[in-house]
Amino acid sequence: MENKIAELKSAASDAIKKVANDLKELDNIRVKFLGKKGELTNLLRGMSQLSAEDRPRIGKIVNDARAEIEKLIAEKNSELKAKALQDKLASEKIDVTLPGRKIQRGHLHPLTLTLNRVKEIFINMGYTVEEGPEVETDFYNFEALNLPKDHPARDSQDSFYITEEILLRTQTSPVQARTMQKNIPNAPIKMIAPGRVYRRDDFDAAHSPMFHQVEGLVIDEKITFGDLIGTLDFFCKQMFGESTKIRLRPSFFPFTEPSAEVDVSCPICHGHGSGCKVCHDSGWLEILGCGEVHPDVLKMSGYDPSKVSGFAFGMGVERLCMIKYAIDDLRLFFENDMRFLNQF
Ligand code: FA5
Ligand code: MG
Repeated sequence: MENKIAELKSAASDAIKKVANDLKELDNIRVKFLGKKGELTNLLRGMSQLSAEDRPRIGKIVNDARAEIEKLIAEKNSELKAKALQDKLASEKIDVTLPGRKIQRGHLHPLTLTLNRVKEIFINMGYTVEEGPEVETDFYNFEALNLPKDHPARDSQDSFYITEEILLRTQTSPVQARTMQKNIPNAPIKMIAPGRVYRRDDFDAAHSPMFHQVEGLVIDEKITFGDLIGTLDFFCKQMFGESTKIRLRPSFFPFTEPSAEVDVSCPICHGHGSGCKVCHDSGWLEILGCGEVHPDVLKMSGYDPSKVSGFAFGMGVERLCMIKYAIDDLRLFFENDMRFLNQF
């Protein structure tokens, strides 16, 4: 009996040692030796044939053998589990120093970038940002700006009318009148008003039926034409670089007197011409209209021209953007061609 037990023990121990990585195999061994119909259990059944004095001694040997086999199995079990964990960790190893895969993010449209920069420059000079409706009344778009119904200058801004009195605004200038009217009369104003405007212009390299303007209006006790020039000169240097020059040409707008149009020196060829496709060799690019606010415009919106004066300007955002990024065709802004947009 004792030999039988010792044999079983060493057979079990050998079998356990041989298990390399299969937990199921280990469990089969447990069943084979220790299970209900296992070999050690069978031995115990034979105990009844032993003499009464042998029984406790052999019983102890059997129990010890059982405990030992259980211990071996438990040890092997945790060894296998540790190994399995190691294998898993090794196979799932991540190199945290590898550069990540880049997520394709969208980015701002060049017109938005330009508009943001314009806003930033004027906000830094203490301007507020105002808004007005794109669907505007004839009164604000024209009459409050000194353009009565029969005024010939209305023709220069061919309009989209919705009814006789309502149209898509052709300029951001109506926000001038709206801002004055919502203020206490003669209170100082220093604002810009960016937004979309609409004209019955055909699409070409420099025109679109929908484009963006930024209006500017400054009103206070003694605002001069010199203040206007200084402001625009500073703006253009901020926008296009310190070496940028501006040039004023006399012009006409019914809502300003005197009026001017402003050109900037071409930032691409710096005025050297010779084949520049952005300024067409002139060395200059028109960006805006401006002037001293007409006394009648002040009066119509409740301001007193004997107490205050002001200047106003209206710039084309597409033109600014074309100059800033040397783009020679305005239609590119609206075609959503990814090859173009991805360059910003
Ligand atoms: C005006 O719209 C005046 N309201 C500007 C102004 C404001 C003058 C305040 C005085 C005081 P004008 O029609 O020239 O002016 O347009 C201003 C700018 O808008 C132009 O210099 C040009 O840069 C841009 N622009 C005009 N038409 C188009 C168009 N169809 N497509 C793109 N940009 C345009
Ligand atoms: Mg013009």
